[in-house]
Amino acid sequence: MAESKSAAREQKISRDRLAELLNEDLSREYQAIIAYVVYSQVLTGAQYMDIAAQLEIHAKQELDHALILSRQIDYLGKMPAVVPKPVRTSKRPQDMLRYDLDNENETIRNYRDRIRQCELLGEYAMAEQIRQILMQEQDHQIDLATALGEDIPDLGGGPKRRSLRKR
Ligand SMILES: [Fe+2]
Ligand SMILES: [Fe+2]
Repeated sequence: MAESKSAAREQKISRDRLAELLNEDLSREYQAIIAYVVYSQVLTGAQYMDIAAQLEIHAKQELDHALILSRQIDYLGKMPAVVPKPVRTSKRPQDMLRYDLDNENETIRNYRDRIRQCELLGEYAMAEQIRQILMQEQDHQIDLATALGEDIPDLGGGPKRRSLRKR
């Protein structure tokens, strides 16, 4: 658990700052859409068939997330961002899955912060919407870690919902 971050997390931020941070999240969602659209189609080989199909599902879920965030940013009176974070590419399947997993980890860290920030501002419905998104991101993280044959990364500070399921 990164203690250095937890102090900042408890700080109440302005609604403008929240909108800015949600726009960063939106740029990460665009990045995820692009990465999953491309990677799901270029991952080839019998051993990657299952994960390629899962990545197609991720792509559509990331689009849903982008729509939800855009609505929240508009609600806060700001213009939703239009530029994705950079997408890395590689011809190696392992690299592609690694990039996706790194991005999901970063996304999960951010949404955990965002939920706290929304709640401190009394934006409970917004916090709930982001909580729903976070649950799907955690599923993406599990899918990728499983495809890479790794344990689920411990990012600290959150319940591991999937550990309650099969596996
Ligand atoms: Fe997402
Ligand atoms: Fe995701």
